[in-house]
Amino acid sequence: GIFENAAEGIFQSTCGGRFLSCNPAAATILGYATPEDLIESVVDIERQLYVRPERRRELCGLLRQGRSVKNFEVEFYRKDGTRQWVLLNIRPVLNEQGEILYVDGIIQDIAERKRAEMALQALNEELEQRVEVRTGELEQANHELRQLTSGLESALTELKSAQSRILQQEKMASIGQLAAGVAHEINNPMGFIISNLNSLRKYTEKIATFMDLQAGAVEVLLTRSGGKDITDNLEKQKNVLKLDFIMEDLGQLIKESLEGAERVKTIVQNLKSFSRLDESEFKIAEINEGIENTINMVWNEIKYKAVLKKEYGNIPQIYCNLGQLNQVFMNLLVNAAQSIETQGEFGVKTSSDDENVSITISDTGSGIPAENLSRIFEPFFTTKEVGQGTGLGLSIAYDIVKKHYGEFHVQSEVGKGTTFTINLPIAGRPRASA
Ligand SMILES: Nc1ncnc2c1ncn2[C@@H]1O[C@H](COP(=O)(O)OP(=O)(O)O)[C@@H](O)[C@H]1O
Ligand SMILES: [Mg+2]
Repeated sequence: GIFENAAEGIFQSTCGGRFLSCNPAAATILGYATPEDLIESVVDIERQLYVRPERRRELCGLLRQGRSVKNFEVEFYRKDGTRQWVLLNIRPVLNEQGEILYVDGIIQDIAERKRAEMALQALNEELEQRVEVRTGELEQANHELRQLTSGLESALTELKSAQSRILQQEKMASIGQLAAGVAHEINNPMGFIISNLNSLRKYTEKIATFMDLQAGAVEVLLTRSGGKDITDNLEKQKNVLKLDFIMEDLGQLIKESLEGAERVKTIVQNLKSFSRLDESEFKIAEINEGIENTINMVWNEIKYKAVLKKEYGNIPQIYCNLGQLNQVFMNLLVNAAQSIETQGEFGVKTSSDDENVSITISDTGSGIPAENLSRIFEPFFTTKEVGQGTGLGLSIAYDIVKKHYGEFHVQSEVGKGTTFTINLPIAGRPRASA
């Protein structure tokens, strides 16, 4: 009949896990020779047939609610232990209490379909994997590109900063050259002006002495012959010409001119030692002298703003390029002056120990916020308005101190002020490599 010849497997089984009956197709699907073979061999459906036993518990759970289960896909073990995907359609047969007596089921072989599905899934997975790999590759390439770009960018900024530093150094060098030239030009005439003024002072003194003598003589002569009119006239002319005043003022004028000329001479000397064109290399030099020179150079710009407290220690001479160190001192002093809004105090202090000479330049100015502290030595970092600051002063100073194997330290508190300390090895280079 239909039961015997059906292509689908048909069966009845119990919740306990035994087959009550089945058709040959059902036995064939599960790899048993005959229905009887299947019914006798399988005494525990869950353990013997189910690859994943929890699937049966899931199935029974559904059936116990009294519902039919349609198209339940599950993998079974065949008699020979190989696996077999099947499709189950099951209807529970209940008693009056609603308990399951047994189930009617249809079992179909879906191995082919399952294989196709799995192949498709594998293909999908492989595709996904390939997309993933490719995406990864692209991301990596992208990352490398970005790194390359940022490398290029930083190379460019470095190049730019190097370029501007060179420009600045050249500018400083040419200013130094100019200053030295100007100093030389001024020095010569200054020499003869001072020497002439000195001679003039002596001459006027002598003329004055002689004039006094002459006046006395004239008086004696005239009183004898009674030439009172002539004396009166001379006296009158002397008053009209304000000769007394002139003789007095003459000395004063010469004295003032001499002082002015001396001052110009000092400025020229400062300028010369500041630019130090003649001695632009490393040599043994006096740091205190360099600082004093630099202060004289910038004094006009800072004297209105601050009281300067100098404390020069008795420090040894060191092997250095004083012209460059002067530039460091100048940059620090100008920064200190700019940090003071109206009135404040500067401190310049030098000291030494066995290894280092220390130079401290402090101010009671605005201070530097913590977030800027790490950046102030960067080229172009400035908080000043255009025209006020280039942001190069400290980066140049840093380079110069580094060239001297020295160290830079900053301490700053917003609203209180800033202290820069420079330590320079006395040996001209650090002990370790000496
Ligand atoms: N003594 C100081 N007090 C407060 N801020 C300072 C002081 N020295 C340096 N700075 C800060 O460091 C920055 C960088 O200084 P610098 O390199 O000399 O460049 P610039 O003076 O041209 O701005 C300044 O713009 C300022 O913000
Ligand atoms: Mg500056």
